[in-house]
Amino acid sequence: MLIKSAEFVKSATRPDNYPTSDLPEVAFAGRSNVGKSSLINVLVNRKALVRTSSTPGRTQLLNFFDINGTFSLVDLPGYGFAKVPLAVKKDWGPMVRTFLERRHNLRAVVILFDIRRVPREEDLQLLDWLEEYQIPTIPVLTKVDKVSRGQREKQIKPILAATGLPRDAFSLFSALNREGRDEVWERIEAALAQERPSPVAEDL
Ligand code: GTP
Ligand code: MG
Repeated sequence: MLIKSAEFVKSATRPDNYPTSDLPEVAFAGRSNVGKSSLINVLVNRKALVRTSSTPGRTQLLNFFDINGTFSLVDLPGYGFAKVPLAVKKDWGPMVRTFLERRHNLRAVVILFDIRRVPREEDLQLLDWLEEYQIPTIPVLTKVDKVSRGQREKQIKPILAATGLPRDAFSLFSALNREGRDEVWERIEAALAQERPSPVAEDL
C-alpha cells in the first residue's frame, strides 16, 4: 500500500457525528494499551498520526482517519482499563456496538490481542458482535517483540483456546520492528476490496 496522504478527519461517539463519507472503512479494536494506535501509525508510516500513550484508556472516542482520499481507518476506544471511570466503561459497549451495527461502509475490523495475555470477557464480547453483524475480522497478535521466537507458539495456545479461532486466523505484528506490517496491509486491502452484502430485510 502506497500512502500518499493520511489525515485525521474527526472524533465521534454517536452515529449522527460519524463522518458522512461512505468510502470503505476498516476499524481497529482491542483492549486498552494493546497497541491499536501504534499499529495504525506503523501502517501509514507516521510517527504520531494517532496519539499513543503510556497512560492507557485515554482514547474514549471513535477516531476517523482518511487515507489517500480513498478509504478510512477508525481507531476504536480501548476497553478493560481498570482506572477508567465507571461511567466511561458503561459507554464503551453501546458506542462500539452501535458503530458495528450501523456503519455500513465498514468492511472489516482488525482485532488486536497482546501475545502475552489471555483474552478476557470484553475481547470475547467483541468477537461475538463481529460474528453477529457478520463483519469480516482480522485478528492480530501484537507486541510479538516481547516474546522470544521459541516461546511464541506456547504463548499463542491460550489465545486460540479462549477465542476458538484457528492459528492461521492470526497475523503476528510488532510496532517496534514493523514485523507483520505487509501481511496486515494485505489483509486490510483484501477487506477494503470486498463489498459486504447489504442486510436482508427481516420477514415481517
Ligand atoms: P488505548 O488508546 O489506550 O486504547 O491504547 P492503544 O491500544 O492505542 O495502545 P498504544 O498504541 O497507545 O500503545 C500502548 C503502549 O504499548 C505504548 O507505550 C506503545 O509504545 C506500546 N506498544 C504498542 N505496540 C507495541 C509493540 O508492538 N511492541 C512493543 N514493545 N510495544 C508496543
Ligand atoms: Mg490508542
